[in-house]
Amino acid sequence: MQNFEQFLLDNLPTAQSIHPTYERALQDMLKAGGKRFRPALLLGVVKAYNPLMLESANHAALAIEFLHTYSLIHDDLPAMDDSPLRRGHPTLHVSFDEVTAILAGDALNTYAFEFLSNAPFSDEIRVKLIRELASNGGLGGMVLGQAIDCYFENKPLKIEEIKILHTNKTAKLIAASLKMGALIVGREDMAEQLYDFGIKLGLLFQIQDDILDVTQSSDEAGKLTNNDEEKNSFVTILGLKTAMQEANLLADELNSEMCNFDESLSGELSPLLTKYINRHKE
Ligand code: IPE
Ligand code: IPE
Ligand code: MG
Ligand code: MG
Ligand code: MG
Repeated sequence: MQNFEQFLLDNLPTAQSIHPTYERALQDMLKAGGKRFRPALLLGVVKAYNPLMLESANHAALAIEFLHTYSLIHDDLPAMDDSPLRRGHPTLHVSFDEVTAILAGDALNTYAFEFLSNAPFSDEIRVKLIRELASNGGLGGMVLGQAIDCYFENKPLKIEEIKILHTNKTAKLIAASLKMGALIVGREDMAEQLYDFGIKLGLLFQIQDDILDVTQSSDEAGKLTNNDEEKNSFVTILGLKTAMQEANLLADELNSEMCNFDESLSGELSPLLTKYINRHKE
């Protein structure tokens, strides 16, 4: 991921203007770090099937990271989760102001698609990638999930409904990251299988995130924890013990599904999964 990190630094959004802090606000949360989990998934698939395309795949990976970072900036706003800390740094509405945070998020959202539209792929692949990012990260994906998440605060949902919430909020963008990797290398035959795997992986990722909300301090997590009491988080609804069991079950399922992938793909994805699949147990 060293290459990706450098690529990100080389391609930070720039917007010099008479506005004294706009450009800094666009860049701060990107530079603050994060796991870069979604880029790593996309790049893992590309590396497995066509390492020569890694350089151009960085464009798609970064577009996803732009969109994901926007989602975090908005997620932390006072109207949403009201959090002062993200990626170990003050959130943008704290270090600048709320207007700046809203607009920096808006700008990163649209810039993700501008950047992807300029990526060095054929027109056909570019359109496919844009469609995938938009449909999973937007209206019928992450944004829908966030809408459900906030609307149903203090209104407990049934477990099937909670899965719908988290599939949209988190799993679809993770699934899209894997699928976009397959589209880049022309492995359409793998696209749906990887997408379905990614939905499960994304659900696990969110269950773990909900577990860490109650088991980690804000310092350890680099973001405000113990902040899910009003939410339909897996832990709030199922309790910590059942959420852990659910996470373990999903982790086992993913491990066995990965054995069905060919050697090059499981060789790339398995270190990534090993790194993240057990994080709720730490
Ligand atoms: C946090 O995502 C929001 C969720 C969908 C759980 P990450 O845990 O990937 O956040 P960063 O990118 O590492 O900061
Ligand atoms: C947010 O989920 C997922 C997004 C789409 C940003 P959370 O609200 O649980 O994420 P954290 O815990 O603040 O990172
Ligand atoms: Mg939230
Ligand atoms: Mg949040
Ligand atoms: Mg959370």
